[in-house]
Amino acid sequence: IASAAGLVIAYLLGSIPTGYLAGKLLGGIDIREHGSRSTGATNVLRTLGKWPALAVLVVDVLKGVAAIFVARTFCPWLYGVLSPSAPTAADLQAWVPWAVSLAGIAALLGHGRSIWLNFTGGKSAATGLGVLLAMSWPVGLGAAAVFGIALALSRIVSLSSMLAAFTAIALVCGFDHPLPYRLLVIAGSLYVIVRHRANIQRLLAGTEPRLGQSSPVS
Ligand code: G3P
Repeated sequence: IASAAGLVIAYLLGSIPTGYLAGKLLGGIDIREHGSRSTGATNVLRTLGKWPALAVLVVDVLKGVAAIFVARTFCPWLYGVLSPSAPTAADLQAWVPWAVSLAGIAALLGHGRSIWLNFTGGKSAATGLGVLLAMSWPVGLGAAAVFGIALALSRIVSLSSMLAAFTAIALVCGFDHPLPYRLLVIAGSLYVIVRHRANIQRLLAGTEPRLGQSSPVS
């Protein structure tokens, strides 16, 4: 029950439609009808400008951080409350990584398929970064560094996001992390990459816009 509660809360956190709300409140538009149609910060940048995009980016990262925080604090507390006998430290040490893993995936799914947006949403890269940073900051920082380098060189956000996702897989497998963390990062990164399939097609066709290009992408 404690795992399921964490999963639901994480999904609802991920579902908070930050980019959609920015579009409605700041531009009076449905962001899903503009640019790449994603509710992510990149499309907000393209459609509404720098400051709304920065705000959306920060909140979307924090959604991922919050989901992992819930799995690490509220879920063990609930586990203790619901158990007939208090869980031991060993019980919690074995169980918490699984609660974290489920919550991380749920947050990504919530961002990509928000319950408030008829199960549409963004590509979960920013929320994924928040999950990574909260789960294992070295993995999160490593992925963020590769994102920054790739973006500086290519000025293509989607390509940089996908390279960061691959990097996260390599790092989590390289570091000594528990199996649930590895499964979370592998599944989550693959999810982020699959969410970029329209970008992959545009990259192959040579039509993916670079940062600063305002040309419509769909
Ligand atoms: O995080 C999303 C980004 O990688 C691509 O966004 O709007 O260009 O499809 P977009």
